[in-house]
Amino acid sequence: MVGRKVGIVGAGFVGATAAYTLAMMGTCREVVLFDIVPDVAIGKAIDIGQATAYSPKGTIVTAAKTPDEMRDCDIVVITAGVPRRREMTRADLLIINAKIITDVVGNIKKYSPEAIILCVSNPLDIMTYVVHKLTGYDRNRIIGMAGALDGARMSYQIQKKVGFGSGQTRAIVIGDHGQNMIPYPEISAVGGVPLDQIIGKTDMEDIIANTKEGGAEIVKYLKTSAYYAPGRSIAVMVEAILDDSRIVMPSSVLLDGEYGYKDITLGVPVVLGANGVEKIIELDLNDEMKAKIDVSVDSIQEGVDVLRNEGFFS
Ligand code: APR
Repeated sequence: MVGRKVGIVGAGFVGATAAYTLAMMGTCREVVLFDIVPDVAIGKAIDIGQATAYSPKGTIVTAAKTPDEMRDCDIVVITAGVPRRREMTRADLLIINAKIITDVVGNIKKYSPEAIILCVSNPLDIMTYVVHKLTGYDRNRIIGMAGALDGARMSYQIQKKVGFGSGQTRAIVIGDHGQNMIPYPEISAVGGVPLDQIIGKTDMEDIIANTKEGGAEIVKYLKTSAYYAPGRSIAVMVEAILDDSRIVMPSSVLLDGEYGYKDITLGVPVVLGANGVEKIIELDLNDEMKAKIDVSVDSIQEGVDVLRNEGFFS
């Protein structure tokens, strides 16, 4: 891609960390931040821009004060949203964030009509579905970032447990980006050695449980959700798309018959390249894994139905 211009909508913890990581990696020519609170985007763009004095390539980091100033991006990352407050139900949060996504997507369609969209806002799979429905774009252009982060969290747990293989751990998590996510130890490995040949059943169960709790553990300490690993995960996916590197990365994508489902988003392994999703990889799942996928899909469908009943897709 010639432009290598990335827009990030939502300059909060995750969006700004993604921008900073991209700038430090030297992945893009230009990163543009937009936030509904313009001063947040402006201040962080200045700070990150100053940090690029020591980055490998001089990435240009700017802020868009209004949505029309974020134009002609090759990729737009959506990290806009509100956190859940005590008085909100899950359905309340879903509806508020879906309204934000509606607003954001309207601007992307207007000002960056060719962009690939990387959705990060939660609840992830449902928001990614909303982006599909509101854009009507080919499904390869819309990708939800979840498996990259959950896989990183699982790698971290494996690393902690086995105590060797630093940087060599590859872990795969599929399904939804919530309570029913599916860490998949049978196809995870350290230095190419299958995990089940290194650790026993109890350790494996610990890794699965700790991976699922990965986000909540951080909230317990920080009282806010994570941003370093999410930011890095976004940057890795952006880089794969801009470089057309065709890495395999579990991501939330719209299924059209794969895994026995249609018209629902779900985290599955995909090949990431210049067209976004180059290919969806269909794993040959046993009955136990298929049952887990069904539970994941049901939980996503439940959220989609809440929005459908609110008239979001009509
Ligand atoms: N347009 C642009 N920005 C918006 C909009 C909007 N319509 N609505 C809210 N925002 C901005 C907020 O002003 C805030 O700066 O989105 C930003 C969200 O940032 P944080 O509250 O810091 O949240 P963060 O931790 O970055 O998480 C963002 O990513 O991982 C997910 O669950 C997380 O959905 C959440 C999102």
